[in-house]
Amino acid sequence: MSRYVVTGGAGFIGSNLVRSLLREPGARVVVVDNYLTGKPENIHEVRDGIEVLEVDIRDYDDVRRAVRHADVVYHLAAIPSVPRSIENPVPSHEVNVNGTFNVLRACTEERVRRVIFAGSSSAYGDTDVLPKTEEMAPRPKSPYAVQKLIGENYATVFYSCYGLETVTLRFFNVFGPRQDPGSPYSGVISIFMKKLIAREQPTIFGDGMQTRDFTYVEDVAGLCRRAAAAPRSACGRVYNAGNGNRYTLNEVWETLNQIEGTNIPARYGPDRGGDVRDSQADTTAARKYLGHDPQYSLEEGLRRTLEWYRASLTVEQPALAG
Ligand code: UD1
Repeated sequence: MSRYVVTGGAGFIGSNLVRSLLREPGARVVVVDNYLTGKPENIHEVRDGIEVLEVDIRDYDDVRRAVRHADVVYHLAAIPSVPRSIENPVPSHEVNVNGTFNVLRACTEERVRRVIFAGSSSAYGDTDVLPKTEEMAPRPKSPYAVQKLIGENYATVFYSCYGLETVTLRFFNVFGPRQDPGSPYSGVISIFMKKLIAREQPTIFGDGMQTRDFTYVEDVAGLCRRAAAAPRSACGRVYNAGNGNRYTLNEVWETLNQIEGTNIPARYGPDRGGDVRDSQADTTAARKYLGHDPQYSLEEGLRRTLEWYRASLTVEQPALAG
């Protein structure tokens, strides 16, 4: 019987991973979250099957107690968002860097078998070549990117220096159910969903021709679990956890209009500071060493996500015109 700890388990990706872990017979799942960006309602319906520890990863002693007896720790707790980290770098530094250090240190002390760390594609910055491969030199463009890069470097060094089995997965623009659309720092697809359902125009920063490797959350959860089961030889390394495609924001909004049978034009605003222009994962290493096998096309992922938002969002629907 395995005991899993998911830091950030009440967050968007974490709460989807928790559901995926619960499908494993006999799995014991512990959620560590301080509800800074995570939400109790994300884990409400699975609450009876899990243990929840309201712990802030900036507190080492609490983290150490939380990871005690864990076989695998999925370290997803973070303050995300590139623009948030630019506007207010202190909290995200404390959580993403110091918090990650605490988790790695605690897992070493408590002899946790393996830690899966949520890295970020933002670490690459702008590269001359696409898709992006793990060998490329990182060129972070924002505090958030630096923080995630520090986290993955620590994860690698904890493996080489202390023998803690770590795997870093660089997440590429994950989307899906339970992504919070409620803040200006929310992921673009969650914002698009909310706007579409409300029949409002989204604002696209720049010309909308920037590209992202949008990855459906279920594929990311699956990869997290595969990374935990991979042989030890796969540890101490960084892997791209993307889908392998890239789409412009204009294409995403157009696809959503098609799915919904609407024709709502986007508004365009100034470029967003710290933005990477293009992002696409080379998934060769994750496929080869971890068995990564993404199942969801962008369109299929968008359909499922839209269905979830429609059922969950309490947005006032305008009267259908004509
Ligand atoms: C970045 C990382 C991603 C990480 C995420 C965490 C890259 C390539 N990706 O995502 O791996 O998980 O941070 O927060 O660095 N936009 C609009 N209108 C909006 C909102 C956003 O046009 O209302 C645009 C942004 O300017 C950007 C794109 O949509 O060009 C995606 O933005 P967002 O969803 O915030 O994610 P990234 O910053 O790309």
